[in-house]
Amino acid sequence: MSPFLLTRTLPEDATEAALRADVLHGLTRTPKTLPPKWFYDAHGSELFEKITELPEYYPTRAEREILSARAGEIAAATGARTVVELGSGSSEKTRHLLDALPGLHTYVPVDVSESALSLAGRALAAERPDLGVHALIADFTAGLTLPDTPGPRLVAFLGGTIGNLLPDERAAFLASVRSLLAPGDTLLLGTDLVKDPAVLVAAYDDAAGVTAAFNKNVLSVVNRELGADFDLDDFEHVALWDAANEWIEMRLRSRTAQTVKIPTLELAVDFEDGEELRTEISAKFRKERVRDDLAAAGLELAHWWTDEEGRFALSLSVAR
Ligand code: SAH
Ligand code: AVI
Repeated sequence: MSPFLLTRTLPEDATEAALRADVLHGLTRTPKTLPPKWFYDAHGSELFEKITELPEYYPTRAEREILSARAGEIAAATGARTVVELGSGSSEKTRHLLDALPGLHTYVPVDVSESALSLAGRALAAERPDLGVHALIADFTAGLTLPDTPGPRLVAFLGGTIGNLLPDERAAFLASVRSLLAPGDTLLLGTDLVKDPAVLVAAYDDAAGVTAAFNKNVLSVVNRELGADFDLDDFEHVALWDAANEWIEMRLRSRTAQTVKIPTLELAVDFEDGEELRTEISAKFRKERVRDDLAAAGLELAHWWTDEEGRFALSLSVAR
């Protein structure tokens, strides 16, 4: 069997300190916010995988369609020997790409979810005995140190996860990705596209309520990790289209006036009846915005592929 390494780049107490800082900052400001990376404990990662199978949630199917159709072209254009995947989750779609790269030496999946990384990494190592798999438990917004593996390097950021970063975070993130690349190395980026708001809202407010459970899971994480007493039934899932910013916003709306205690932070948080806590943005893109954001970070758009219905795009850009 091929080597499978799982490395934690930050100690667990640093992760908890980051959660404490984000909760303190986010729940003491107006409007209240929490960063989406805290959705993904083991249960949240499972819920996300269920989301990808929902009839309303088209991005995963659309991106899989593009990857399976274009894997050969991506392989020929990049000649990658190392693939680094940020926010890799189940790594399920990525297999199309890994299987198409003849000279691939190492796959480096990077994720905050230890459970997702360990499930995906072990399955892949068993399936591909020829491939080195070096998984990193890390925050991709916090500056990464990658293992020393042969180039050319291809960084993959799939699923549209770049849309979960605010515009200033997105710019800083793309600059940090560029710093991981040598000239000629590449970035494969998945971006969901602007479309009919009714289709978008349905994708984030499914009939079976899986996205609602995913959204509320962030409250369970804060309860478990910081001893808070959020009652999940006291909050309602909200998904809305922000036309000015061209993003979906997920929120949790308090069903009543209430005070939530967070003992670890010695904090009591008041919610008014109907007050909303923003838990995620999911920005939707047009080609020009992707090209311009990449260019600002020193990455030149070389290929732009969409699914047949034009719902989702995969772009390949080259570090200059
Ligand atoms: N790429 C996969 C999974 C997308 S879900 C797909 O396309 O299906 C988003 C993934 O990013 C989750 O696995 C989550 O744990 C991870 N993630 C979210 N924020 C992160 C961060 N700041 N650093 C590292 N991983 C993060
Ligand atoms: C991971 N990310 C791209 C998903 C999205 O569509 O923004 C997370 C998600 N949130 C609700 N449903 C899925």
